[in-house]
Amino acid sequence: MMNLGSDASALLTRVPEPELMDDDDQARAYAEADFAEPHNHFVQLLQETFPQLPQSGNALDLGCGPGDITLRFAHAFPAWSVEGWDASEAMLNYGYQAVEAAGLQDRITLKKVYVPQSDTVSDTKSDTVSFPLIFSNSLLHHLADPMALWTEVKQQSGAGTAVFIMDLMRPTKRETARNFVDLYAQDEPEVLRKDFFNSLLAAYRVDEVKDQLVQAGLGGLQMRAVSDRHLIIWGQL
Ligand SMILES: C[S@@+](CC[C@H](N)C(=O)[O-])C[C@H]1O[C@@H](n2cnc3c(N)ncnc32)[C@H](O)[C@@H]1O
Repeated sequence: MMNLGSDASALLTRVPEPELMDDDDQARAYAEADFAEPHNHFVQLLQETFPQLPQSGNALDLGCGPGDITLRFAHAFPAWSVEGWDASEAMLNYGYQAVEAAGLQDRITLKKVYVPQSDTVSDTKSDTVSFPLIFSNSLLHHLADPMALWTEVKQQSGAGTAVFIMDLMRPTKRETARNFVDLYAQDEPEVLRKDFFNSLLAAYRVDEVKDQLVQAGLGGLQMRAVSDRHLIIWGQL
């Protein structure tokens, strides 16, 4: 857990970024970027976190973007199907093409869905329509109201659902965010470097995510930093 020290007021204030990545240039740059290393790491951590997942099932990828992780998951879990939800048509269009190119239309369904579909968790939701696995990468920091993610997780889960979320952590200083861009996105196009910088400033801190989970009644989920800029939140409901 991050040590906040005594002067929390000196910490970098969150700077929200637009929720949806629906600008065509931005979506293209993101869809064409090489995320092999971090996205394989995501799937590997998911596998290590849940070594006892059922042999097959239907997973939900929230904020799937152009579907790169959705596809990597489908390759790593060949008996599973997966639904990817995103509200950006520009992103989904790249995703539809990628799914078709991989010939995985029978196991991957991408849908235009704004998260959360509803502000409240329905009292009548039935365990029979829940997903046994819900995962998400880099959606949380886009959300103006972070409770959107946790509300959707609750709405789409049932008893035993495995939850695996990864996102960026906001650094304590603006200068650190700049250094991360130079270190990890040195050769990327300017549009991606800018996105990465803005995303670091929009990300939530560990203590903020902890408060969100408690507020959502998901305090049983666990959380840890897995790099200098990424955290994971996981658990079984
Ligand atoms: C940084 S991208 C991550 C995409 C993908 N998960 C990945 O790791 O490559 C964030 C995605 O979340 C989507 N998004 C942001 N807010 C959303 C919302 N409220 N509902 C649905 N999608 C949203 C954006 O359109 C964008 O495609």
